[in-house]
Amino acid sequence: MLSKAAAGRYAVGAFNVLDYNSTKAVVQAAEELAAPVILQTSAKTVTFWGPRALVGWVTELAGRVKVPVALHLDHCKDLDLIRDCIEAGWTSVMIDASARPFEENLALSRQVVEMARPKDVTVEAELGAIVGVEDELHVKEQDSHLADPRQAMEFCAKVKLDCFAPAIGTAHGIYKGEPKIAYHILQEVATSTRVPIALHGGTGLSDEVFRRCIALGCAKVNISTQIKYAFIDGFVGYHNAHSTQYDPLKVLQAQFDEMKKGIAGNIKLFGSAGKA
Ligand code: 13P
Repeated sequence: MLSKAAAGRYAVGAFNVLDYNSTKAVVQAAEELAAPVILQTSAKTVTFWGPRALVGWVTELAGRVKVPVALHLDHCKDLDLIRDCIEAGWTSVMIDASARPFEENLALSRQVVEMARPKDVTVEAELGAIVGVEDELHVKEQDSHLADPRQAMEFCAKVKLDCFAPAIGTAHGIYKGEPKIAYHILQEVATSTRVPIALHGGTGLSDEVFRRCIALGCAKVNISTQIKYAFIDGFVGYHNAHSTQYDPLKVLQAQFDEMKKGIAGNIKLFGSAGKA
């Protein structure tokens, strides 16, 4: 999915899902737009529901559509959880050992590749430190740093990744100011590593930033916070407008519509519509 996207200069949307309803919103938006899509789960979400429940929803929903649907484990530091997800049916995993020294990050990423490869599961790893909060993962401003292009080249030469996440100045969560994207790092890393690049911190980036990053080699764009907002705002908005009505299915439909609208907009912008 990602090497095709990188070659075609478009990106596949990778959406962090929270429950059955958000998973359905992603799959239906992708089907309507004939787009390949990635369902992502944070480690926290997997622990909340349990791997088997999640795989059950995904198998059922993906089985109804014609577009390719991947199931990816986002930022995970825990090798046992990665193993559980591989066993349960995830098609892709991310080992995030980016807080460790270079050699340890490399060794752990290699270990995950060895674990994943026999099961045909793809692997993403991170270098540098992406600022912000992604569920239980907190990286403070002072601890964040961009990926070093020379280290990135060495890293990708020493571990065979399917997707690489260098820190290039984007952030998880809501941007406080205008993000400063290190396009030169992205360009150098994409050219020297030839590995499809994941753009983290998608929520709140401008159309222009997305277009530039995708043109430079970002083949996967991660969107999480936007879905969390749509999930809550869809619920609250509906309830505020119908405060005497207690009909949960109508609330779920309002949440679904709100999430799907944003997801469909992302897919169109990333250029993956019609690429299934
Ligand atoms: P946002 O929460 O900023 O959309 O970032 C998502 C992400 O990168 C998940 O890994």
